[in-house]
Amino acid sequence: SWDAKAALSIVQEKKSLDGALMPILHALNDAFGYVDATVVPVIADELNLSRAEVHGVLTFYHDFRKAPAGRHVVKVCRAEACQSMAGRDLEEHIKKHLRVELGETTADKRITFEAVYCLGLCACAPSMMVDGKLHGRVTPAKFDKIAGELR
Ligand code: FES
Repeated sequence: SWDAKAALSIVQEKKSLDGALMPILHALNDAFGYVDATVVPVIADELNLSRAEVHGVLTFYHDFRKAPAGRHVVKVCRAEACQSMAGRDLEEHIKKHLRVELGETTADKRITFEAVYCLGLCACAPSMMVDGKLHGRVTPAKFDKIAGELR
């Protein structure tokens, strides 16, 4: 869970790096699994940036989670090869099935749904990753089966 004191020491440890904002956000995301919004003014103060700048970078990059993840993480590929092979339909299906938008977690905290840009599995598009495991040629039915097994 989020620890404001530990977060502050990460910020202070990295703030003298060149272009420190990205390394700081990555380090926080790695340490806590997400970047809590309460750290935005802290980073802004330490790096002499505006809160809007820090917030803008935090929300622009999909790599950074804005809230803790659910028990499982499903990432759907949104890059070109997958999009051209019904990846968009798959994405819409997943949103409906889980009743979430990209970046959100189901109400029961079971699954977090995220985007990824190419999993290196283009030949088997559309593809997705579930808890770090790759799946190719994902149809809505295949997704339902895999998701149904996640507890
Ligand atoms: Fe989806 Fe490469 S474009 S795996």
